[in-house]
Amino acid sequence: MKDTFLDLAPEGRVHRRVYTDPVIFKAEMERIYGNAWLFVAHESQIAEPGQYVTAHIGERPMIVARHTDGEIYVFANRCTHRGMKVCGARRGSKKRFVCPYHGWAFATDGSLIGIPHGKGYNGKIDPKDPGLALDRAARVDSYRGFVFACKAEDGPSLTDYLGPMTRALDNMIDRAPGGEIEMTGGGFRQRYRGNWKLHMENANDLMHASIVHASSVDAAQAVVDDMEDGEEDHALQMFKGNGLPLAMMDEVEIHGFSGGHSYMGGFYKEGPITQATDEDLVVAQYRKSMIDAYGENRAEDIMGWDTFNHLIYPNLILNPKHQQMRLLQPVSVDCTIVHSMCFRLKNAPEEMYRRSVRFLSALNSPASQITTDDIAMFNSIQIALDEADSDWIDLSRGLGHDRPHDDGGEIGAVGTSELPLRAQYAAWRDLMSQ
Ligand code: FES
Ligand SMILES: [Fe+2]
Repeated sequence: MKDTFLDLAPEGRVHRRVYTDPVIFKAEMERIYGNAWLFVAHESQIAEPGQYVTAHIGERPMIVARHTDGEIYVFANRCTHRGMKVCGARRGSKKRFVCPYHGWAFATDGSLIGIPHGKGYNGKIDPKDPGLALDRAARVDSYRGFVFACKAEDGPSLTDYLGPMTRALDNMIDRAPGGEIEMTGGGFRQRYRGNWKLHMENANDLMHASIVHASSVDAAQAVVDDMEDGEEDHALQMFKGNGLPLAMMDEVEIHGFSGGHSYMGGFYKEGPITQATDEDLVVAQYRKSMIDAYGENRAEDIMGWDTFNHLIYPNLILNPKHQQMRLLQPVSVDCTIVHSMCFRLKNAPEEMYRRSVRFLSALNSPASQITTDDIAMFNSIQIALDEADSDWIDLSRGLGHDRPHDDGGEIGAVGTSELPLRAQYAAWRDLMSQ
């Protein structure tokens, strides 16, 4: 009988094996990553036929390509001859993918189109055999330019899977006066020694920020104290934002949903990062272009939705207000790669994009003083959970006090509730027992 591991994650606590056991990791890859809709590309990266990016479904390398028929195909980056990775680049444009081992050639929809010296098979292999095509994801769909793939043939549609999280995608896109966003630049990748769930559990944990990130809060404050005049810049505001007193963190809204998704309200209270003041010339110019595009009421609605991290279970983190995205790639039970990138708002002042890149560097890059704090914690926790001193970790802060919300999910009685973590484990139990 299949082990569902449900006894390892009752409500409010989790057994350390869930973070350290390779058998559970394999089961997660099959049952969670094998059934979820996973972000694989943004359409702006593959606008033209032949353009492709490489991506992952769980630990499995994939290619996402725009074919000559104009459709997007997602297929395994694993040669059907003897298993070599067909494409080593992260993105580019090709007429065909030629395997670097023995030269089998595949079209941009994954079908096999050529075998060098094919007569050696004496007619026993037919390149047109669909079984020799690169293995396709069962379903591919796009939500307003965000391309997702799902390995499972059955299950909820993409919009049903995203549920209320479509609002985060909508808001990110609607913030562009031109109604579209583009992923034009590259991004960062960071590998940490720790389980993938540690990052998801941290991203909407309002209890940790002022404690774990105290050193960068203090450093930013020291710089501000030394400044003679002039405006504090964005990075300083970002670093200081983590230093909000816990009583004020409790005022921040924290939302959790079935399916494991969650988001938090905004917690920057001051400075240019809030985009609240027209004294900032860039914001004033941006606001004007939004009003021209949408009318005043709608523009204020879009710009006024003050939220921070939106977590789409199991591995996507969006920050619509600052056009940021993080994507987790689980590598093994104790190793994860974090991809971070940002978007350009079409028809917004160019300085808005520069701010978004600065935000990415300051908060979500390997050079960030904030990310490095979090990663140091993940490393330390992973090592500790490998040891048998104590078997359980606790996720019960606020348990029993979360309330139903009219957005269809729940809201924490206080911002420091561990509601998002419990929502993730409710989804984990659900998917692991399928
Ligand atoms: S492994 Fe790809 S052609 Fe041989
Ligand atoms: Fe953090």
